[in-house]
Amino acid sequence: MAHGTKTYLFCLLLFALSLVHTTIGICPQLSWDMRITNGLQSGALVVYPTDKDGADLGPHNLNPNEYFSWEFCEQVTKSTHWYTLFYWQPHQQNYTVWDNEIGKECFRHYGAEECYWLVKEDGFFVSPDNDPFPKGWVKKYDW
Ligand SMILES: *[C@@H]1O[C@H](CO)[C@@H](O)[C@H](O)[C@H]1NC(C)=O
Repeated sequence: MAHGTKTYLFCLLLFALSLVHTTIGICPQLSWDMRITNGLQSGALVVYPTDKDGADLGPHNLNPNEYFSWEFCEQVTKSTHWYTLFYWQPHQQNYTVWDNEIGKECFRHYGAEECYWLVKEDGFFVSPDNDPFPKGWVKKYDW
């Protein structure tokens, strides 16, 4: 193969890879899907996720059974840290919803990591799956 052709094919490959990268959003480390569900019997739950590096997803009002979800890339430096402020009148808490420790409890899917939170009257539960409560849910915090 002529040198020019090789260079051309190489560039084509790089271009194709960059397309794949931007379309499916490959992360250098794991990519995570977070989901917080209002598991209260009644009453609105406000969730307001932020991360240590300044990402601010704003407040979101959830009715019972509604959820809010977002995606992020785990940082190579292992310093990823997501907080969420929870407001359920008159209660308010600001808890860590993702760090390396919680990531270990959510990690199970290899490739499309998922971390589910369920907020109920008796506390905050986390799971790598989204099975009907209580299967697989671990209580992390109280109100
Ligand atoms: C929750 O706590 C974190 C860490 O102190 C802080 O950075 C973040 O701004 C707080 N969230 C809200 C919505 O105030």
